Amino acid sequence: MAGTVAAYVSVGTEPDSRGLIFALWKRGTYVLLPVLLPDGDLDWASYEGPDSLVPGPRGLLQPGEQRRGVTAITSADLVIVPALAVDPAGHRLGRGGGSYDRALARVGAAVLTIALLYDDELVRQVPTGEHDRPVRAVARPGEGISRLG
Ligand SMILES: Nc1ncnc2c1ncn2[C@@H]1O[C@H](COP(=O)(O)OP(=O)(O)O)[C@@H](O)[C@H]1O
Ligand SMILES: [Mg+2]
Repeated sequence: MAGTVAAYVSVGTEPDSRGLIFALWKRGTYVLLPVLLPDGDLDWASYEGPDSLVPGPRGLLQPGEQRRGVTAITSADLVIVPALAVDPAGHRLGRGGGSYDRALARVGAAVLTIALLYDDELVRQVPTGEHDRPVRAVARPGEGISRLG
């Protein structure tokens, strides 16, 4: 029943998020998608249907709508993030840019944050540093949604 969901457009072999984004938008959810900034931080703009996506850096598809600023993610009721791997404590391995560590640092502790994984990507342990921000749940094709931490 979330009013605002922050999500992302999957690329390459990542679990496909496009059907999810489309379905959320169709039912009237306000969907925010990231715009990668030159310093690796994430700006946000709304998804307004498949035609509203435009090519961005690094082969990404990004929303072409007006940017809402890096703090727009604070308005999300649910945050869906990519990850290469997550461990049972919620520690998250990204692609090395730290973009989601910055973005998740702006998300309130009560907000559900969930990483989309393949079944074998919930691993025993992920190395972490001080700056890393955990996720609270993962969603996997075979296992569904699992709460962590
Ligand atoms: N809150 C932050 N502010 C500034 N830079 C950050 C922040 N969080 C992470 N970074 C930068 O991102 C780099 C990569 O983070 P890392 O956790 O290794 O990547 P990822 O989370 O994508 O796997 C860090 O070494 C740091 O320089
Ligand atoms: Mg990190």
